[in-house]
Amino acid sequence: MEQINLNIEGLKNFISESEINEYAKITGRCNNDLHDKTGLGNDFLGWVNLPNEINNQQELIDTAKKIAEDIEVMVVIGIGGSYLGAKAIIDALSNNFSNFETKLGKPKIVYAGHNISEDYLHELLLFLNSKEWGITVISKSGTTTEPALAFRILKNELEERYGEQIAGNRIIAITDEKKGALRQLADTEKYKTFVIPDDVGGRYSVLTPVGLLPIAIAGFDINELIRGAQYMYKRISNNERYENNIAEQYAAVRNALYKKGKTVEILVNYNPKLHFIAEWWKQLYGESEGKENKGIFPASVDFTTDLHSMGQYIQEGVRNIFETVISVKLPENKLTVPKDELDLDGLNYLSGKRIDDINKMAELGTSIAHIDGNVPNIKIEIPVINEFYLGQLIYFFEKACGISGYALGVNPFDQPGVEAYKKNMFALLEKPGFEKETAEIKKRL
Ligand code: PA5
Repeated sequence: MEQINLNIEGLKNFISESEINEYAKITGRCNNDLHDKTGLGNDFLGWVNLPNEINNQQELIDTAKKIAEDIEVMVVIGIGGSYLGAKAIIDALSNNFSNFETKLGKPKIVYAGHNISEDYLHELLLFLNSKEWGITVISKSGTTTEPALAFRILKNELEERYGEQIAGNRIIAITDEKKGALRQLADTEKYKTFVIPDDVGGRYSVLTPVGLLPIAIAGFDINELIRGAQYMYKRISNNERYENNIAEQYAAVRNALYKKGKTVEILVNYNPKLHFIAEWWKQLYGESEGKENKGIFPASVDFTTDLHSMGQYIQEGVRNIFETVISVKLPENKLTVPKDELDLDGLNYLSGKRIDDINKMAELGTSIAHIDGNVPNIKIEIPVINEFYLGQLIYFFEKACGISGYALGVNPFDQPGVEAYKKNMFALLEKPGFEKETAEIKKRL
């Protein structure tokens, strides 16, 4: 069977084998720490064995099928780790234009609670006005302002339209088992609920109901996704030697590059369906590693689109960048370039070629140009985009992130920095309990 590969040929001119080997041993130890729970943040390691411990997939599938009978649109409310994983997988598997047609039994997923834009919420309400819809509200803490605001507004709208009873049947809550405002509300209103395990942080939660339920509602095969994660689990477990362990290798080369001043990693795709895989990846790596004044800055581009914008900087700007390219071997569909009698656009030399062949030459030409321009290149090769390989990819990135964070010397499972803006926002909004902070911040304005 074809599998996901990590290709580091494009690093040859930049880091030596001995520089990589320095990290090979370290990453092996870090992988042990993840399995043995002997590293920092070890109360948040529930995701490590998750692929083999999921036991509620049938309930998730049944719930998804049942709610799909009544709705055309499911609004998934959540922010950060509570929505990015689902959106990443759903976008990767969806037809680019499928959200333009909605019908009963085949729900489309739209998102809310990931911004505080009045226009966004207003326009969403207008869109939902002519649709049959429901809500999946996701918040581990149950107190995050953005999703709580969106839920209050959308719940009101749903109740006004259908009455409390029917609206209640169209709301599913995914939250903590016992604590938090959302748990309390869900229990009071008797919503259908799913639990986010205590020991799994938001950005590592795709394989919990946080990701699995929306993905199942969108009609995709969560069993295959889990099977992919299980397959990758074996490939990159701490029993697998470094030579075969692509998570340890990816973590090792990232750290070796960082040590040599490559402080920005750009995740590159050549297929717009993967745009949100990069958004999810940025949260995973940014929140896990960016602390204590350390960490690679995770960025992303969609090629070839961004070759016409960011391409200039990547080729010739500050040389602190390396690229990780997600290279998909085969597209799902086939389309060739037609011949044209006049050939005024000069494209007849490509006639009969598949569009993907041209994309692949753009990819190859770009890697060569960027390597020549001193941008080290890592390639993650995936045979095709489907649930099985996406399940593998997610677990690969999660595991490599935990290993890489440990190798960097940080706790990859906390996010203390996220609180700073919240404290200021609450102070400015004069939230009860923030009186001292309000007085302090007002003096600064
Ligand atoms: O990774 C994380 O922990 C965060 O991004 C959270 O997922 C995000 O802040 C949402 O939190 P919650 O699910 O508690 O609303």
